[in-house]
Parts: sequence; C-alpha cells; structure tokens
Amino acid sequence: MNDFIFKDNELYCEDVPVKNIASEAGTPFYLYSLATLRRHFKVFDESSKVLNSLVCYSVKANSNIAVLNFLFKMGWGADIVSGGELFRAIKAGVDVNKVVYSGVGKTEGEIEFAIKSNILMFNVESIPEVFLIDKVAGRLGKKAKISFRINPNVDPKTHPYISTGLKKNKFGINIKHAIPAYETAAGLSSIDIAGLDCHIGSQLTEISPFNDAVAIVKELLDKIMSKGFNIRYLDLGGGLGITYENEMPPHPSTYMNSIKNILKDYGGTVIFEPGRLIAGNAGIFITKIIYNKDTGSKNFIIVDGGMNDLIRPALYEAYHEIVPVIKRVGPRIKADIVGPICESADFLGKDRVLSPVSEGDLLAVFSAGAYGFSMSSNYNSRPRSAEVLVDKDKFHIIRQRETYEDLIGKETVPDHNI
Ligand code: LLP
Repeated sequence: MNDFIFKDNELYCEDVPVKNIASEAGTPFYLYSLATLRRHFKVFDESSKVLNSLVCYSVKANSNIAVLNFLFKMGWGADIVSGGELFRAIKAGVDVNKVVYSGVGKTEGEIEFAIKSNILMFNVESIPEVFLIDKVAGRLGKKAKISFRINPNVDPKTHPYISTGLKKNKFGINIKHAIPAYETAAGLSSIDIAGLDCHIGSQLTEISPFNDAVAIVKELLDKIMSKGFNIRYLDLGGGLGITYENEMPPHPSTYMNSIKNILKDYGGTVIFEPGRLIAGNAGIFITKIIYNKDTGSKNFIIVDGGMNDLIRPALYEAYHEIVPVIKRVGPRIKADIVGPICESADFLGKDRVLSPVSEGDLLAVFSAGAYGFSMSSNYNSRPRSAEVLVDKDKFHIIRQRETYEDLIGKETVPDHNI
C-alpha cells in the first residue's frame, strides 16, 4: 500500500493530484499523507503491544503540531529534546504524563519548564545533569522522575553522524559508570529513580545491533534491580530504519518479538521512541524546476528547493528518490538535481536518470517526512517552505510558507555611530 501513487503518469497523494496542491500552495512544500501516518502508527502500535509498552513519538523527526496532534490523539506520548519541543507537544495536546525528555544539554530553564509541566521522566545523560534536576525540583518542592541513558558501546552500523551508542559519542553514561550513577542519584532528595534508558542510533537496518544493545541493557537492568532500585520503565529509544532506496529494515513486529524474548522476565513498562519510521515515508518534498543548465561537462536541474529545505543529502550524503510529478515519455536524461543555495553541497540528488523534464515542471523528493522540514533553515535568507497534509480527497496547509517579513521580524537595527 502506498498513498503517493501515480495514476496515468501523474503523482497523487491519496486522492489529490499533487499539481493541484502546488497551484494553491506554491513551491517548494512538504506534503504528508494522513493515511500513511495512520498506517505507520497502527503497525508500530500493534507490534509494540506484545510488550507492556508506552510509545513516545520522537518529536524531532517531524514536529508540525498537526502531525503531533494526530499521534497524541491516537494515544501516544512524546520523546522531546528541548523546551521548544515540549512547548509544541503541549500545544498539540500531549498527555504530559507520557512525555520523556532526552538530550545531553538540558538547561536549567528547560528543566524547570519540564518539571512544572509534570512530564513523566527525564532521560539523564550525565551526573552534572542529575544534580541540576535535583536542585531545580527541590526549589519547586517536587520530585523529578529520572532514568539514566546508558551508552552500551554497540555499533549501530549506520551513518557515523547518526550513531549515538558508541563510547566515542557524547550521548549517555558509560556503562561502566552506570551503577555508581544510580547510587549517586539515590542520595538526592528530589530525584525519584524510575527507569533505565538507551538509544544507539538512527536508521538502523539490521536487527542485531538492537539485540546486542537490549541484551547488554537487560544485564545491567538486572544488576540495578538486584541492588534494590525500582526500575519501572525501560526506555529503548528509537532507531528503526526505513527504505529510502533498497534498504530492507526489520519490520517492527520482528524487532518487538526478538526483544520480547530478551525481556521476558521484566515486569515494568517498555518505552519506545520511534521517529523516522512513523514520519519518513509519510512525507515527500515538492519542488519546481527553475532552469535546466548544461555546463558542457554536466547537466544540472536547478530547482526552487535547496539544502535549507532538505539538508539530508548535503549532511549525510543521504539518498532520496526523485521523480517528476508528471512522467512524460521521451529520452531519459541524467543530471544532478541542485538547489539555489550558494554552496556546492546544495544538492538533492546526484547523477539521477529522469524521464524528460522542462523548466516549470514539479519534482517529488521521496521519503522526506522525517528530518526534512524539522531540520530546515533560513540560510541564504530563504523563507521556509509550506507544509501540507492530505486526508483522502482534501488537503490542509498545516504551515504557511514564511514571508520575507518573517525573515527579519525579530531583527532590529541599533543607532549606528558613523
Ligand atoms: N530517541 C532519541 C534519544 C533520539 O536521539 C532519536 C533520534 C530518536 C529517539 C528517534 O530516532 P528514529 O526513530 O527517528 O531513528 N537527522 C538525522 C537523524 C538524527 C536522529 C537523532 N536522534 C537524519 O536525518 O537521518
């Protein structure tokens, strides 16, 4: 089943022709399918039910409040990494008792906001952090629930920029320091030790690193519990990969069943933080061809969406399939598809073979629903694109395109002494 489909050589999102959306919303824009989001939700939700689990969607993957609102209404919580994400989650109607807060650099202000909001738990990534949480909770007359994020030193076999569970990474607490960390936290009066957490990386396409990490964490969990700590939550993070090109990531139910075996005698709640798996293939990015440029040594298709809109190709050399929204017949062309930004890294795809296209045609960049808009920027003073959500035969602009006024709205010019 796919909700981005070609009918008579023209791309539709569910029942809506993509070109109709482009005429109303302008280009470039992100386009999400509610039917796909719903299906991804269902697959993960049902698979996770083999365990006593809580799913906290990883807000960073796609943080549009319409997307969040849908997932929260369906009953999921949120994995957040900043005060801004907490604000979004609350605005989108999250049940605060289902919010976990990860990240190595939580500030005092952010910690205070989270405690006052009564979130479920902090996933603590260092000893100084637990002291700060204790201090803030004490000042507010509250107890803060925490888990420690443990770095199990497992290679997730993914791009180095999105590996997080190796000892050279900044994330989590070295597993060798885990028990002393729990003992230290036990001495803090405003801390309630509630969980154990781990997240080894993103876009994992093999099951074995997950199994290795869960086995290591389970061994540690047993040790910690044997010391009398009441670990009611085991958070296993996110990380399940998706198909961008021809990857064959494990199905969520394969993943759940394999870790279920390892965790069979654990009576607490297992938390999952999926992001990419839910949003990645529920979204595409639509951009318009401005020029076809032949430099004599190479063809460049120059489009109106660039690395400021979708940075994944530039940052990770990530592959995203790119196809014309209207497929024409005729000789195929080979070109680099590049944006308007003044950087040679500003490409969406290299050496791509496409059916014939002309200036003014639309291109669809697939698998862009996760870490697409949420990583976009205003570089080169380009207003960020619109976001559109399709539901059957209707579409909703869920974020307006930014304007030039938005670009400078927060800026002021002091009196210059010249
Ligand atoms: N939990 C934690 C603590 C995380 O750090 C992340 C992702 C997730 C959950 C969600 O992981 P997912 O299920 O989406 O793999 N910008 C990169 C991905 C960075 C992922 C960061 N952490 C990309 O575009 O590939």
